[in-house]
Amino acid sequence: MSEFADSWQETWVNINGEYVKGPEATVSVLDWSFVYGDGVFEGVSVVDGRILKLDEHVDRLYRSAKRARFGLEDAISREEMAERWLDTARKNEIDTGYLRPLVSRGEGPMGISNHGEVDGPNVYVIPQLHRSSGFKTLSSARARLSSIRSPSPVVRDPRVKANHYMPNILAKMEIADTDASVPIRLDDDGYVTEAAAANVFVVNGDTVLTPDDQQILSGTTRAALLDLLEADDRWEAEVTGLTPYDLYTADELFVTGSIGGVKAITHLNGDPIGAGEAGPVAAAMNEMLVDHLIENGTPLE
Ligand SMILES: Cc1ncc(COP(=O)(O)O)c(C=O)c1O
Repeated sequence: MSEFADSWQETWVNINGEYVKGPEATVSVLDWSFVYGDGVFEGVSVVDGRILKLDEHVDRLYRSAKRARFGLEDAISREEMAERWLDTARKNEIDTGYLRPLVSRGEGPMGISNHGEVDGPNVYVIPQLHRSSGFKTLSSARARLSSIRSPSPVVRDPRVKANHYMPNILAKMEIADTDASVPIRLDDDGYVTEAAAANVFVVNGDTVLTPDDQQILSGTTRAALLDLLEADDRWEAEVTGLTPYDLYTADELFVTGSIGGVKAITHLNGDPIGAGEAGPVAAAMNEMLVDHLIENGTPLE
């Protein structure tokens, strides 16, 4: 059995406040998250017994749910939600791992005009005890520009962290047989948006640039890094439009996310970025972020 399958047997999943062991943790086929992808979620890291950016993840979940009109505020308060995540981490004795809180509209008859008959929302907290990538260490990878464009915010607002990850999965699959593991996506006008599940940063001298958050998921890690940069006079942060040209000609390129932390991108479509290896700024950002996020994380106990 794989390490994941092994640990899944022992994982407690929280479904609407009740704990169920992983293999028994199932959802109804009438759950609209299953039928229509009608759900929103978060990906939350637990590192050294602390939940990182707990309030920011809760806030983003509630903003996504508000846009989706799930009535989440009426069903469960933010404080209860945060406590449920902490309790799920405690119950699973997670020291370092991952939580996937997911809220669906609920269960109801099929047919999108039946939204009024859906009984919900359903709140799931799914832990993953096994993790392959280290949050603390600066990892590196090669990237490729994806042919799968980010949807325009007028079609589907990327700030809603909704369960429609098929394009993100396809972007990953598209490059599976290449030298790269990070797809970098563009919008319809050719501007850089984000990776499949991470935000993009470029380093030019002492300026660190990232696309604005109109057409990306507003990452909690990105926001934390921008705050840190604001308070640090070694670097300037700039939020601006970036094209592939800016990526190819950068001194350094890196991506950020709650699960992977900072990942240096050494090559784009086979071309070396800067020296073609993880650079000093990505390393400094990683150190700054890791220290800050763990120090300010919410202890489980
Ligand atoms: C599409 C997308 N962009 C960016 C991110 C990074 O966001 P965060 O730093 O909050 O993990 C994620 C994380 O899951 C994501 O799915």
